[in-house]
Amino acid sequence: MPSKTIVRKPAVQMQMEATFTQKRQPIQSIQSVKRAKSVKWLKKPDKAITGKAITGRGYQIYNASSEEMVHIPDNNVSLVLTDPPYFIDGMDNRWDNRKLQRRVKKGVVGGIPAGQKFDPAQGVNLQKFLQVVAKECFRVLKPGGFMLCFSQARLVHRTASALEYVGFEIRDMIAWQYEGQPKAFSQDHFVRKMNIPEKEKRELINQLGGRKTPQLKPRMELIVLAQKPKQGTFIENWLHYRTGLIDVQNPLIEPDGFPATIIPCKKPKEKHGHMTVKPIDLCRHLIRIFSVTNDTVLDPFMGTGTTALAALTEKRKCIGYEIDSDMIEIITKRIKSI
Ligand SMILES: C[S@@+](CC[C@H](N)C(=O)[O-])C[C@H]1O[C@@H](n2cnc3c(N)ncnc32)[C@H](O)[C@@H]1O
Repeated sequence: MPSKTIVRKPAVQMQMEATFTQKRQPIQSIQSVKRAKSVKWLKKPDKAITGKAITGRGYQIYNASSEEMVHIPDNNVSLVLTDPPYFIDGMDNRWDNRKLQRRVKKGVVGGIPAGQKFDPAQGVNLQKFLQVVAKECFRVLKPGGFMLCFSQARLVHRTASALEYVGFEIRDMIAWQYEGQPKAFSQDHFVRKMNIPEKEKRELINQLGGRKTPQLKPRMELIVLAQKPKQGTFIENWLHYRTGLIDVQNPLIEPDGFPATIIPCKKPKEKHGHMTVKPIDLCRHLIRIFSVTNDTVLDPFMGTGTTALAALTEKRKCIGYEIDSDMIEIITKRIKSI
């Protein structure tokens, strides 16, 4: 009798199957809260509605998880512009900025720098988490509305898959081009610590020939461009919702050219105590192209509030969610400085 061959599934595939069949619990249990029927826009600035929300002229910021955006009715916002946690090395939905800062300060030698550890489960976890928030973004976006979601080269397929899974059409990929610092590191330090004779160490270092860990100098961060399916033709959808078409005549960056998929923009100098602050000009540029004056822009992962600042500067309204209360203070200060 031929022996039975046992075919083992790869560990990542098994984990994928397990995680996608589990039911996810929201971070904060707000399921009992009824969804809003309409968004009320207050005229007076900085009037707090409740302990968990800050609102003023043209903005509403919730210190809550965006896994359920009960404050926003269906088909209500025109653009989602967001930079989610990437689930790399502690930068997940339990993101603790203070802990990460401490780890970054500890330095590189002896381990991989914060934010760069490779674990195949990160992609799975990111996709699983993003699907929950993306589903809410899909619900609250007007038909034809765009969602622009920052990602990383090695996770961008997960981001796009999460968005596509909940119903978005993936339209394009945008690259924010910047001048980064090389992060690859040499192995010489580890060879010097090896328990082998000095002569062998020298030979091994010589043999490695200055080779480094597999990280090219980073020059881009990717942004997934997704669209909620429009209703009818482009014109019919536009007449009904004022979404689905892009403004190519008024770009902020490279103003004399047609808006392109590669956008050069310097990294911001001011970090506001956060590790992944995005440039305000980049956000303003995207908001100009993908929305219209007076539209409502949503950011479900506000961080220091760059999207909100860009939206208000571009005369749009902004609704945002952020779970870290320290960030809420920073967002408030930034908005007041406009
Ligand atoms: C990559 S940062 C955004 C940085 C932002 N682009 C900026 O310029 O400051 C992601 C943020 O999402 C927040 N976050 C993580 N999970 C969340 C959730 N479920 N709901 C709301 N905010 C969340 C984190 O606290 C973190 O500040």
